[in-house]
Order: sequence, then C-alpha cells, then structure tokens
Amino acid sequence: MNPIGIISKYYEPDSKAYNLLVTHSRQVADKALAIAANLPDHNLDMGFLKEASMLHDIGIFLTDAPGLGCNGRHPYLLHGLLGRRLLEKEDLPRHALVCERHVGVGISKKDVLNRGLPLPPRDMLPLSLDEKIICYADKFYSKNGTMPPREKSLDDVVDGIQNYGSDQVDRFLNWHGMFS
Ligand SMILES: [Fe+2]
Repeated sequence: MNPIGIISKYYEPDSKAYNLLVTHSRQVADKALAIAANLPDHNLDMGFLKEASMLHDIGIFLTDAPGLGCNGRHPYLLHGLLGRRLLEKEDLPRHALVCERHVGVGISKKDVLNRGLPLPPRDMLPLSLDEKIICYADKFYSKNGTMPPREKSLDDVVDGIQNYGSDQVDRFLNWHGMFS
C-alpha cells in the first residue's frame, strides 16, 4: 500500500494542505519508527506504523481550517473521526482506528460529555501500542507550516496538553516514560 497514492486521491499534489500534511506525516512517521526501533521486544509491524503515521491526519481536508489550506465544513476536532470513515471506505480498518484515536491524547466518552464536544459519545482512545506510539509522536509536531519544521520540546508539548486537564497530561507522561 502506498500512502502517498491514497493522499493524492483526496489532496491536490503541491497544494498547501498536501504539503503541510505530507511534511507533518513524515515527521510523525520518522519519530514513530524511531520509538518502535527502541522497543524490539514488542515485534511491532514497522510497515503498518509507517503507513498509519502517513495517513493519520488524512481527514483534515474535510474540516474548516483555512490556515492549513483546508476548506471543509466540519470542525477541525472531527478530523480523526472523518479520517476513520474515509480509510474504512478504502478498506483499511486498522489504519482507520489510528485516525480516530490520535486526536489530542485520545478522547474519552467522559471528555465528550463533560466538555460538550461535537463527537459521538464513546471512547476514542489509543488502545494498541501502534496507536499509542503514533498519537504520542504526533504531539511533537504542529502543522502550522513552521520552516524548517522542528520537533517541539517536551515542555511545550505538556504545556499544550495542560489545557485539557491533568488526566490528559498523566496519560501523555505515562507514554513518555514508555517511549523516550
Ligand atoms: Fe498529526
């Protein structure tokens, strides 16, 4: 499977959204693979990790995020859920779950209800090790077009997550202990 081939079905190559998506996804893929290489006992599927990292944000074009060159009609928060639906249509159900479960540090049913989020009231949390690694790696890279694109510091990542609550920070720091 060629992730760039799938991305190119939905994004105009060389458009702003395409370039931001592919640059960001490659950064996430590189970090996810580096983490996996340090976890040899887990027999991770490197091919899957790379493909799913490249596709985790494929839903962004369906959202209203003009700063990213995306002019869809949905709130950006839905990009994971939208990506899941898209990859299920592409017959990639395992990759699809990575899309749905990577937003923030995962979103629980409790988060959806307590914060009144425009999402279905169910858990959308990373469960498998692959899902956790990609969600964790993703937090180190923004898609704001910073050139050259660089990795955020741990403090910056934690600062960003702090806004969502201490449970979220704890979840992230638990992964940090496993993956760093
Ligand atoms: Fe991402």
